[in-house]
Amino acid sequence: MKTNSEKTIFEMSVPGRKGFRCAPSDVPAADLPEGLARGALPLPELSELDVVRHYTRLSRLNYSVDGGFYPLGSCTMKYNPKACEKAAAMTGLSALHPLQPIETVQGALLILHETQTILCELGGMAAGSLTPAAGAQAEFCGVKMIAAYLRDQGQTQRKVMLIPDSAHGTNPASSVMCGFACKPVKTNARGNVDLEDLARYCGDELAGIMITNPNTLGLFDENILDVTRMVHEAGGLVYGDGANMNALLGIVKPAALGIDVMHYNLHKTFSTPHGGGGPGAGAVCCVEKLADYLPGPVAAVIEEMTDEEPPVYGLVEPKKSIGMVRAFWGHFAIILRAYVYCMMVGKNGMREIGETATLNANYLMAALKDVYPLPYDRVCMHEFVLDAKWKDAPGIRAFDVAKRMMDYGLHPPTYYFPLIVHEALMIEPTETESKDVLDAFINVMRSIAEEAKTNPELLTNAPVETPFGRLDEVKAAKDLKVAV
Ligand SMILES: Cc1ncc(COP(=O)(O)O)c(C=O)c1O
Repeated sequence: MKTNSEKTIFEMSVPGRKGFRCAPSDVPAADLPEGLARGALPLPELSELDVVRHYTRLSRLNYSVDGGFYPLGSCTMKYNPKACEKAAAMTGLSALHPLQPIETVQGALLILHETQTILCELGGMAAGSLTPAAGAQAEFCGVKMIAAYLRDQGQTQRKVMLIPDSAHGTNPASSVMCGFACKPVKTNARGNVDLEDLARYCGDELAGIMITNPNTLGLFDENILDVTRMVHEAGGLVYGDGANMNALLGIVKPAALGIDVMHYNLHKTFSTPHGGGGPGAGAVCCVEKLADYLPGPVAAVIEEMTDEEPPVYGLVEPKKSIGMVRAFWGHFAIILRAYVYCMMVGKNGMREIGETATLNANYLMAALKDVYPLPYDRVCMHEFVLDAKWKDAPGIRAFDVAKRMMDYGLHPPTYYFPLIVHEALMIEPTETESKDVLDAFINVMRSIAEEAKTNPELLTNAPVETPFGRLDEVKAAKDLKVAV
């Protein structure tokens, strides 16, 4: 017989059981107007305690950064400081309405303006907009800005956008949505953009390149200055996918590398909660010549400070803006958390973020590379990619390793990305984990590598310790059953 914790809420239902009691009605009963009632809803009948236990049990099935190590490569699942949450919950900020008169939201506009300024400073950029809802949408904006700029320069024949073969799928998607034809550029044996391959496309039709640095192999591109020079000399522009900016904050300014327009994933680098599809925020920042094309609105000082009065902030539309991509100000509560995070870390602390994240990643890589194949064996940045493919464990794939990690209570890393590493396990520890946590992770990963050879069924049948075992992942996504 099933215990209550194994039953669905529908199986727990007992006819007539209630979780509420209404006060006796002091008005005459009336029927609902025709057509308003939807008929009987098949809702379970439960007590308040049944409902509380049900949702508490479900919440415990969630894996989160607050619950355990989350080495999901390219996602920067770092600890989300609770002070940021506290600020976001302050009534003076959380109860604002974006249609309030501008003079009543000066504090919120100051926060937007200062966040833009901090992000521009970190990137060496001239201007920025915070409205895009995610990295992918910020990419779309940045590439649209490139298209608009080229159009204004009479360069409409420039239709080719280059995408390194290690890139995230959102890069080609953004380019295609902006009307460009994507051409893949090869990665060389050291994990850098292959300059010979790049040179083939450097002509009159080149619109630009979308480059991620450090790239999705977790490597700093040693050819980056040549890449941006070659694209610029050919008349193209350079988009910098800043999803991996956690490694560079306060150390390298993308503008100094030749990047013209870039985005930050505030929900990764600046530690706002993410996962499960949002909400996020993807600020887009650019050099001077692209500033007029930014998506609006952007926060600006509309009246300078005098000796007696602070500046007056407003929202302005850049002159040749590609338009609005999100309602009102973007995801204000996410931007606010990122702002508080920046203020807590401070200018000097920014550098430590990337240094510690890089140290942690190299520590893990060095401790695992004798038991897992490492396709690009050089010092990594904030993450690294293993190839879970062993000659003496031919039946094992990255998927099996990832599933086995769940039996050890760990969240799996990103797998099968980047696409150029066949059995990719992309591991990003972030700067917020202690050496104890990293050591425990190393032990688990070494045990799994041993099991792959001595007892492969442990991996191919995993996970066995989780509430559900191996799912048909395609069916689970296409035919989702949410009633647990
Ligand atoms: C390298 C890279 N670029 C872009 C993105 C897209 O960012 P978002 O998920 O915020 O849309 C991601 C997300 O994982 C990424 O890893």
